[in-house]
Amino acid sequence: MKEKKFDVFDNIFSKRAIDIAQNGLGSVSPNPMVGGILASNYRILAEGWHQKYGQAHAEVNCLKSYHKNYDSPIPDDAQMYVTLVPCCIHGNTPACTDLLIREKIKSLHVGCDDATPGVESKSLVILKENSIETTLQNTKEAKLIARFRNVSQRLNRPYIIIKYARNHQGIYGDKNQQIAISNQISKRIVHQWRNECDAIVIGANTLLLDNPKLDNRFYYGKSPIRVVLDRKGRSFDKELNVYNDGNKTIIFTQKKEIPSNLLKNKNLQFITLSSDNFLQNAMAKLYELKLGIVLIEGGSTLQKQFFIEELYDEIREIVAHKNIVEGEKIEAPTLPTTAVLKHSEAYRNDTHNYWFSKYVNKMMG
Ligand SMILES: NC(=O)c1ccc[n+]([C@@H]2O[C@H](COP(=O)([O-])OP(=O)(O)OC[C@H]3O[C@@H](n4cnc5c(N)ncnc54)[C@H](OP(=O)(O)O)[C@@H]3O)[C@@H](O)[C@H]2O)c1
Repeated sequence: MKEKKFDVFDNIFSKRAIDIAQNGLGSVSPNPMVGGILASNYRILAEGWHQKYGQAHAEVNCLKSYHKNYDSPIPDDAQMYVTLVPCCIHGNTPACTDLLIREKIKSLHVGCDDATPGVESKSLVILKENSIETTLQNTKEAKLIARFRNVSQRLNRPYIIIKYARNHQGIYGDKNQQIAISNQISKRIVHQWRNECDAIVIGANTLLLDNPKLDNRFYYGKSPIRVVLDRKGRSFDKELNVYNDGNKTIIFTQKKEIPSNLLKNKNLQFITLSSDNFLQNAMAKLYELKLGIVLIEGGSTLQKQFFIEELYDEIREIVAHKNIVEGEKIEAPTLPTTAVLKHSEAYRNDTHNYWFSKYVNKMMG
């Protein structure tokens, strides 16, 4: 494979590919976000990104856009920039390596490799065998947007994001009532995260105490599927939003007998698991159901268990700088000592801390 230092134009075009790839956030998972640029003579001729799960890949959309706008064949000196290595297997759509060979692309810049079995490393060999001069850049930006896909492919489970709010004293909730911890800006950002994920997971106490809707009301885009973990079925005879509002909810339980009124509800899917490796098996099942990114929204006991079992990839911690005096307090989970703080952002009196697991941090390089 060609080892070449990127020049300033390569950097601009690669960055553009990363920018447009992110248009797919919230609609392509469990597929990866991918962007593609076709350039010649220091000018962008065409661009495209993967827009929706199961539909055309970035390379296809980019080259389609070229042919829509130009009658001539792709110029010999044209270079393609893609954020992720092109696929070489026929999944929902044909292999992109075949397309690049057919279109006689001669030069390709790739942001990072794809951990999908059968694609990882193999696509690069196919491209080389077909005389497509390829540079694998392994940029941080490309690895960052591919992390959801690459982590889940390697670990055979969804990419797991633990999200919670606590105040500066470490208070997370109240045993007897729902309390607001974060501010209105954080609330909107959390709803943005919900749009970007495939599922939201909560534990039984949170379900019973808060009766949450778990939808995306304050940001653009879809609401994810709700997932409830209720091993003993403590919520099954209760009137709760997630059981009655007409949206889809998956319930993992150990109970073998589910009340008939709930079984009749087509929006509810009950999955019975044994007590062994309950959380791990629930996550594996979500992966099987093609839910690629999950947001674990609480409560504290559940999140602690995810940490104990090292079932997390990222932590999004909202720290509210306000005092909470009254009530029977629930403490926030203690962060794993191996988690790595990546950055923090301030939104008025709330600070958002973003952590990676040791594994993800290492993968990012
Ligand atoms: N600050 C925040 O960001 C935030 C977010 C959400 C909720 N909250 C608050 O948190 C409070 C509820 O939190 P909580 O800690 O009391 O309860 P919780 O985490 O909502 O519920 C406990 C959950 O952990 C499960 N669990 C415990 N051990 C387990 C194991 N070994 N394997 C699998 N599952 C296990 C329980 O299952 P079983 O029931 O089946 O035993 C249950 O689903 C509420 O006050 C809520 O308002 C705060």
